[in-house]
Amino acid sequence: MDGAVRAAAIEVSGVRKAYGEPPSVTVALDDVSLAVAAGSFVSLIGPSGCGKSTLLRLAAGLEAPDHGTVRVHGVAPREAAAAKLIGLVPQSPALLPWLSVLKNVTLPRKVNQGAGKRRARFGDLGAGRPPADPMDLLRRVGLGDVAHKLPAELSGGMAQRAAIVRALGLRPDVLLMDEPFSALDELTRESLQGQLLDLWGELKTTVLFVTHSIAEAVRMSDVVVVMGSPGRVLDSVPIGLPRPRDPGLLGDPRFHGYEDQVRVSLRHAWSATDDA
Ligand SMILES: Nc1ncnc2c1ncn2[C@@H]1O[C@H](COP(=O)(O)OP(=O)(O)OP(=O)(O)O)[C@@H](O)[C@H]1O
Ligand SMILES: [Mg+2]
Repeated sequence: MDGAVRAAAIEVSGVRKAYGEPPSVTVALDDVSLAVAAGSFVSLIGPSGCGKSTLLRLAAGLEAPDHGTVRVHGVAPREAAAAKLIGLVPQSPALLPWLSVLKNVTLPRKVNQGAGKRRARFGDLGAGRPPADPMDLLRRVGLGDVAHKLPAELSGGMAQRAAIVRALGLRPDVLLMDEPFSALDELTRESLQGQLLDLWGELKTTVLFVTHSIAEAVRMSDVVVVMGSPGRVLDSVPIGLPRPRDPGLLGDPRFHGYEDQVRVSLRHAWSATDDA
């Protein structure tokens, strides 16, 4: 029976989250339930304002739901975050401008010396996973030569890669990424997608990834979750494409089939938004 069902790394159940006070209440999430299997790559896609970032913040333990529960490996996200099981890549990289790239990516390890003990409580998740070597990770995403530069000296794509390395540095079990490649040109984006997939395959991290790009969602994911406003999960599309997902796959008819499937769901999401 072991291994027959992959345990959920992230479990969101009946979650509601609203902002503001009556009469101007904004419902960001309305009865959202979602399970992200351990080790899987799941993307969230949906119209602007449908609650994707809110869902990520709840999973990161930065905010709490009004109703319902969020669990990361069976515990409250805050507890999982304190044990450094969670890495977050925010939409804008937010590197500290006065520290070199290398110091930026090693900082989380320095300020989290106590996390090891808390993490050990999570058994297998904490054991045998020494933090990745930041310099090695930087080299692998092509930032070896700029490790000693300041963030202001980097291009946007370099800064986003540095933010990904920073989030991966503690080898989090769960990686939450909010439109990490949104500001990049198409080819840089494809290359970074490949690099992230390689790291994901190697580090066996669970990824919850927000994107507005259908092609990106299909290329990266095991499952694409389509959301609509106000804050609802409308569809869940399993992507049965083989891995590794090389750029060549983008021309495959099966790839276009999955793109179409997600596009149809998104159209429903948009029309539901119009009706709201
Ligand atoms: N701190 C906040 N205070 C008030 N309203 C908020 C806050 N955060 C989010 N909202 C509202 O909640 C809704 C969902 O916002 P959220 O940022 O989760 O959307 P999103 O799906 O990530 O959108 P986008 O694709 O534009 O990033 C929006 O209507 C937004 O205005
Ligand atoms: Mg957002």
